[in-house]
Amino acid sequence: MKNNDNFFLRNIWYYALPSNQIKPGMMVSRIFLGEPVLLIRDRDGKVSAMTDICPHRAVPLSCGRFDGQEVECCYHGWRFNSGGRCTAIPSLVEEQKMDLSRFDVQSYAVREMQGNIWIYMPDRDRPQPPEMDIPVIPGFDEQPPQFVEVMRFPCFIDHAVVGLMDPAHSPYVHQSWWWRNQQLHEEVKQFDASPYGFTIPRHRLPANGGRLYWLIGGGVPEIEISFRLPGVRVEQSTIGKHRVVNLTTVTPISDTETEVTFSIYSTLRWVGFFKPLLHVLAQTFLGQDRTVVEKQQIGLKYNPVLRLIKDSDMQAQWYYQLKREYARSLAEGREFVNPVKSQILRWRA
Ligand code: FES
Ligand SMILES: [Fe+2]
Repeated sequence: MKNNDNFFLRNIWYYALPSNQIKPGMMVSRIFLGEPVLLIRDRDGKVSAMTDICPHRAVPLSCGRFDGQEVECCYHGWRFNSGGRCTAIPSLVEEQKMDLSRFDVQSYAVREMQGNIWIYMPDRDRPQPPEMDIPVIPGFDEQPPQFVEVMRFPCFIDHAVVGLMDPAHSPYVHQSWWWRNQQLHEEVKQFDASPYGFTIPRHRLPANGGRLYWLIGGGVPEIEISFRLPGVRVEQSTIGKHRVVNLTTVTPISDTETEVTFSIYSTLRWVGFFKPLLHVLAQTFLGQDRTVVEKQQIGLKYNPVLRLIKDSDMQAQWYYQLKREYARSLAEGREFVNPVKSQILRWRA
């Protein structure tokens, strides 16, 4: 596999940011897929997004003001509503009637659910309405996550996704006294196709895996893990009567930077009290993934052929196949056909 066929999936929802990072009346300037995006939350709490460039003379709109209803550019005071409509050009005199709609800013569809804001990144040449829904964390209604950790990886999205789903790196990358040991053992897992991705159906956690879950007590942990495009992983665990769901999302910032967001939803009330500890653990764990990805960048500069193997790299291969199929199905205007076939994968880790 050659490394230079990097492209971003478009016409798809990406995780943008945690809801609590943008309060009513606030604007947040971000870059997604190399595009500057201004996110605003109006007085009534509704989040909208538009291109963060003034159509007049290109000053970022985020340099201006937001009154909870409209954004005003700091250069000549042009104003835009939450839909990106140009509503005022102060320099025009009474007789200078102008069709302001010529100066609208591109807007983006955004959705807010369960404490997360998602953004639909269209293909501007071939825009299509959303075909898939944003992922829902079952059983948590409108509840926000109890814990969120965000980390930037210095790489193209594919390497962050593949690195996070890679089952064979743990004993080498995630060495901590509280997390496993160097002894490799064989893992056997069933994988099924699921919407825009694949799922490891609910299974019992082996006694030697996930020491942290056993700390919670209350029975044998059962776990289901699913992955879907463009880079969303949901791990649902049941421990006795309790449920813990971990949502990990991957969002491209640019060709060389990717944001990974790790959130925890759970029925365990004490999770909130352990935020500082969870923060340290998440920083350590994700930091180990980031460090190895940093090293990988050194080699990737030479654009080598990557030799993916069976079965431990099968999920990586599926990811590339899913991504290509999504792009192709859109380009050809046909239905997405999931390339994943149900099967058992075995590896040592
Ligand atoms: S550059 Fe924004 S109003 Fe002129
Ligand atoms: Fe990892």
